[in-house]
Amino acid sequence: MTDHAPTALRTHLCGQLRPEHIGQTVTVCGWVGRRREHGEHLAFIDLRDHTGLLQCVVDGAHDLRSEYVLRITGTVRPRPEGTVNAALATGEVEVGDCTVEILSEAEPPPFPLDDRAADVDETVRLRYRYVDIRRDAMQRNLRTRAQVNGAIRRAMDAQGFVEVETPMLIASTPEGARDFVVPSRHRPGTFYALPQSPQLFKQLCMVGGIDRYYQIARCFRDEDLRADRQFEFTQLDAEMSFASQDDVLQAITTAVSAASEAVTGRRVVDVPRITWHEAMGRFGSDKPDVRFGMELIELTDVFAETGFNAFKAPSIKGIRLEGGSEATSRSRLDDLTDQAKRWGAKGLVWMRVEQGDDGATTLSSPIAKFLSEAELAGIVERTGAQVGDLLFLVADEWLATCHVLGLLRLELGRPPVDEGGLQFLWVVDFPLFESIDAATGRPVPAHHPFTMPHDEDLHLLDDSDAEALLQVRSQAYDLVLNGWELGSGSVRIHRPDVQQRIFGLLGISDEEAQAKFGFLLDAFRYGAPPHAGFAFGIDRLVALLVGEENIREVIAFPKTQSGTDPLTKAPTAIDDDQLDELGLRLLPPPAS
Ligand code: AMO
Repeated sequence: MTDHAPTALRTHLCGQLRPEHIGQTVTVCGWVGRRREHGEHLAFIDLRDHTGLLQCVVDGAHDLRSEYVLRITGTVRPRPEGTVNAALATGEVEVGDCTVEILSEAEPPPFPLDDRAADVDETVRLRYRYVDIRRDAMQRNLRTRAQVNGAIRRAMDAQGFVEVETPMLIASTPEGARDFVVPSRHRPGTFYALPQSPQLFKQLCMVGGIDRYYQIARCFRDEDLRADRQFEFTQLDAEMSFASQDDVLQAITTAVSAASEAVTGRRVVDVPRITWHEAMGRFGSDKPDVRFGMELIELTDVFAETGFNAFKAPSIKGIRLEGGSEATSRSRLDDLTDQAKRWGAKGLVWMRVEQGDDGATTLSSPIAKFLSEAELAGIVERTGAQVGDLLFLVADEWLATCHVLGLLRLELGRPPVDEGGLQFLWVVDFPLFESIDAATGRPVPAHHPFTMPHDEDLHLLDDSDAEALLQVRSQAYDLVLNGWELGSGSVRIHRPDVQQRIFGLLGISDEEAQAKFGFLLDAFRYGAPPHAGFAFGIDRLVALLVGEENIREVIAFPKTQSGTDPLTKAPTAIDDDQLDELGLRLLPPPAS
């Protein structure tokens, strides 16, 4: 490997020095970490650069403060007997006979740069992000991110994908979120949008014969921020011509595997596939966290003849919290019930699994008295309930039952982000429409409107019945990692007749379609190859690879949860001249 250490100012990096360097005169540069006095004149200074700490024994160090930037020349020598630090890579050596040059003085850092920084208020960390980035954890995260990008690029290049840069100033793309808009100075009153993704341009690349496109693409979406969402984020975005869903899954698995191998040393092989329907039915989620069990248990047939009104529902399912009864207080159960109602449940039934006087397993629950012996026995049998377990049951429409129990499963069972390994999963056969909008009566697309339905479900599109439309499966697929949606993609519609049919169903008129994405529809008139593609979030992938709960930890300069940057103070007002040039006038801020 090339040694990148030597520069005009240094011969070695701090973390590089080992016993084999003993006797050599070296010059190192870095920041003053910890310092310990040793007698009246001498001090041990831990000099820090991105490779680690190096102990330097400095004479007359009284003016060297924390985070000063130093250049130290000295001789590498073994540490004296009994002072070797096995926890440090350079712990067997130190640099003595030091000549010290102060390259920069520094004010005291706004927070300690050791482990205690984890407790520092995040706004303060972001306000002084350049100091925060000096910490080991941030150095690791950003360097891992660079490794991931490099590995992905190499994997895509090796598979014949061509990196094409698509524009940042575009017309609005229909990806479902709000656009960030940029006013045009040349044409006051008009606006560019920042891309929510390169979706339409990558499809144009396919019409343009690029065959296999990729880009490590910055995307912008004005949506509520969360642990896994920022306004601007990065995708590995890809598209393939003359390709099927399987081709895309294969190519993307190769890229993700390369990223994983670069970070963990382990390749990703044989990613399991399940259908959306199975994912919802077993895990109550379209992005199942399969690091733990607690799968949803089907109980509908147990209550086929029930006299209990709340269980006269199309679907009844349950989950079992093994050994959970004792640790779950009545007030926690009330909280969970309230929570389930906020998630949309009509109610949440809980049952403690206990041992009766006769030694038999009994179910203790406020609603037990409404159930028959056969039903109670059916629950025990179907759930495999053991004494000490806690059961939860929900009755509703199938999707609502799955949804609520899926969230409860996560609430009760989800392991911490850095436990349970990396469990990738393909979820395939998403429905084409996720619901019917109550106000308009129109179907709401589950992915974007260019997603190809399953060939065998095409005939259902001609059915005016909403229920039939909800049965239409699409050739859309997601990649899931530890319960996070890592990416999505689909086989695209390249047939104008199908596209027109979908637009019609969505209530997008010909004029509107022409106005919004007429350029894509026009392009398709000039010979569009069948094509399919995918995009996954690099921020999310890196966060999970390094075991972080929040993607902000793997982004150099992220926005806070409220969308601001404490460092640059963005977003900021602009002055009147700029507004004039852009032909803009500001309204008074809305009354809050
Ligand atoms: P989609 O909208 O599902 O698909 O986005 C793909 C992936 O991008 C990541 N992502 C985000 N990451 C951080 N912050 C956000 N606000 C954010 N929004 C999305 C997620 C997500 O899975 N054009 C389609 C892909 C295609 O069909 O080819 C698209 O963008 O990891």
